[in-house]
Amino acid sequence: MSSSTQSPQSPKSPKGKVTSPAPAVAPTPLSAEAQDAAGILPATYWTEQPLPEEDVDDGASSLGSFNSTTASLSTSIYRYREVHGRTYHAEIGNAESWEPNDQRHVDAMEIVHHAILVHMGGKLYFSPLEQKKVQKVLDIATGAGLWAVDFADEFPNAEVIGTDVTPIQPSWVPPNVQFEIEDCNQQWTWPANTFDFINLRSLMGVVDDWNALYRNAYRVAKPGGYVECYTTSSRFLSDDGSVKEGSSLDQWGRVFREGGKKLGRTFSVYEEDLQRKCMEAAGFVDIEFKDIQVPIGVWHPEKEEAERGLWWKLAVEADLEGWINYMWNAVLGWSPDEAKAFARHLKRDLNNPKIHGYFMGRVAWGRKPE
Ligand SMILES: C[S@@+](CC[C@H](N)C(=O)[O-])C[C@H]1O[C@@H](n2cnc3c(N)ncnc32)[C@H](O)[C@@H]1O
Repeated sequence: MSSSTQSPQSPKSPKGKVTSPAPAVAPTPLSAEAQDAAGILPATYWTEQPLPEEDVDDGASSLGSFNSTTASLSTSIYRYREVHGRTYHAEIGNAESWEPNDQRHVDAMEIVHHAILVHMGGKLYFSPLEQKKVQKVLDIATGAGLWAVDFADEFPNAEVIGTDVTPIQPSWVPPNVQFEIEDCNQQWTWPANTFDFINLRSLMGVVDDWNALYRNAYRVAKPGGYVECYTTSSRFLSDDGSVKEGSSLDQWGRVFREGGKKLGRTFSVYEEDLQRKCMEAAGFVDIEFKDIQVPIGVWHPEKEEAERGLWWKLAVEADLEGWINYMWNAVLGWSPDEAKAFARHLKRDLNNPKIHGYFMGRVAWGRKPE
């Protein structure tokens, strides 16, 4: 977290872009046949396997009805859907998020921020930015807003704007940060040639058209400005076969990938090489990549690698139910108890030193020509 002088801010409201409220119903779950075809095991596979009772904290699973409901709070940007006791943003266009926006999940997002920093060797970016030249910065889908806050600390003379569809950002932030409510899947409203740096971090399952996202970024980047995108792969792999087909780690990726297809917002950004393809198509040049392997859990014998894995494990465990709630309930149609049984197996596997799972992270950056 940042240590700079901070001042209270609140997110700006949407810039007249709300055309219709989001549907207040969950998507129809995938059929049993479709789940089977995608290699997704049925809920009974997990509920029928014995496991110790403890481990998964029930969090907010107050187990309401399966259908989402829209809570009636006073202003539109605070109108949330509720799925099995967790809240989700529901207001702008069709920007229905798969991630909860309640405090428990925001806490987990903050740990993810730290995990990514550890993952990137303490760096907030890899683009060759020049401190003196960076005046205006955009952080798309900023989440808990910590990247924007840390970047603003590092670049005190830059104005940093973080956007999101849901107002979960902190209110005490450095004076050079502001948060705005914006749907990144709509035409961006900033004028052309505005930003020196645009950050697109962890947008798996968020973006409905990656080409359009990069076209927007290209238009609003200043000539000579950079766009940078961090993504993780959607698969857990292992070099020794210890991540087995049908294991909880294997199923995690399958469900997210199928869920992403169903929602029209892919989780396979890494596998589909979208950073490269869409950056090139939009016109960015001097494109560079950095791939970093993350051994999930603490099995790796090297300290640095094990530390990366530890932070990601902590980030997942901080809100296991929140990460899976939407996909497993709304997309697969499982009951909360069934999802919870899966979560218990996942937690056990994340802590099993004999399972040598890892995933890939990729940072990709490019420059808008002068
Ligand atoms: C995985 S979090 C990433 C947060 C942040 N970029 C980071 O790296 O810490 C995804 C964020 O996207 C936001 N989001 C989902 N749909 C969005 C949309 N259409 N436009 C803007 N933000 C969106 C969610 O509210 C959530 O805060």
